[in-house]
Amino acid sequence: MLVLGIETSCDDTAASVVRRRADGSCQILSNEVWAQHDDHAAYGGVVPEIAARSHVERLDGTIEKAVAKAGVSFAEIDAVAVTAGPGLVGGVMVGLTTAKAIALAHDLTLIPVNHLEGHALSARMTEAATFPYLLLLISGGHTQLIKVSGVGEYERLGTTIDDAAGECFDKTAKLLGLGAPGGPRVESAACGGRADRFELPRPLLKHDGCDFSFSGMKTAVREAAQSLEKPTGQDVADLAASFQYAAARHLAQRTEKAMTLMPDSRQLVVAGGVAANCAVKKMLQQLCAAFSWELLAPPPKYCTDNGAMIAWAGAERLAEGLVAEREEAMAMAPRARWPLAAPTDGGKLGSGRKGPKA
Ligand code: KG4
Ligand code: ZN
Repeated sequence: MLVLGIETSCDDTAASVVRRRADGSCQILSNEVWAQHDDHAAYGGVVPEIAARSHVERLDGTIEKAVAKAGVSFAEIDAVAVTAGPGLVGGVMVGLTTAKAIALAHDLTLIPVNHLEGHALSARMTEAATFPYLLLLISGGHTQLIKVSGVGEYERLGTTIDDAAGECFDKTAKLLGLGAPGGPRVESAACGGRADRFELPRPLLKHDGCDFSFSGMKTAVREAAQSLEKPTGQDVADLAASFQYAAARHLAQRTEKAMTLMPDSRQLVVAGGVAANCAVKKMLQQLCAAFSWELLAPPPKYCTDNGAMIAWAGAERLAEGLVAEREEAMAMAPRARWPLAAPTDGGKLGSGRKGPKA
């Protein structure tokens, strides 16, 4: 089956066409991403109104390119999957409305997708990830450990009690004057730095459970930066490297706890923008090696926001019959908040024969 995926929940305008073969494997036919960094650069962060406007300007062209590059016609496409939340609601609305129009015009199945489910299943496009697996989802807005037992079957084992990992990378980049996009800038600055120069905190080390905390680390980086009179390029590199090391160590330490809660799995999947970070992946690789687990990490372009993961989540839902009736899908409203799995709902949101309700 062929699915068109549309993603507009933050500052990337993205569209992709993927094929799900009968054996369940994935072929990504196109993956177009228009990153809006330049539109927001002057403001030191993503401005929701500018993001929504940019999506309006770029989305049609991005979809057109994705379909053309895939070498298919709309008549051959079976469904259009689109991020319906969580995210900046103006942007989500642009994508969702566009997808509804395409579904109506070309008589396609419309599949509203939870952005986090896109990340959760993204590794299955390129890696042999089999259920159940442990997911470490580390993005700009989320830091979660999730037991993924099947499509639509998610159980949250841990989450951040303050900042998200990506948010902390972004704030550290800002503090060090590295600009945007924060994560990649910190990673390249850290290349020439000494990770052992600044001793940063090890959050929640003595606490049970799998939750994360990044706000103390952020404050410690700020204090370390302020303690330097005139920070040199080397100071900035050392701070970036020390922070990156401390963040990776914290992620690995909490993940180790979650691994003990999953005796029926030997696979750790890492997804979300921060999963593109080599130091983080290296630390997780060492953790997995120590416990004879396998680390599965999609290529960086499928870790950061992209349309392919949304198309793929739609394809996985379609294959399992987990899609809403047309009327229900067409009535879906954009959602600013939409937990993938909360302990309170038993982690079953979106499961069953019907798709998520608005
Ligand atoms: O998944 P994503 O593209 O968007 C969200 O859904 O949030 O994640 C974006 C986050 C940003 O905070 C960005 O700084 C971070 O992922 N990120 C990285 C790297 N690439 C992106 N963080 C650390 N190292 C990277 N190489
Ligand atoms: Zn994301």
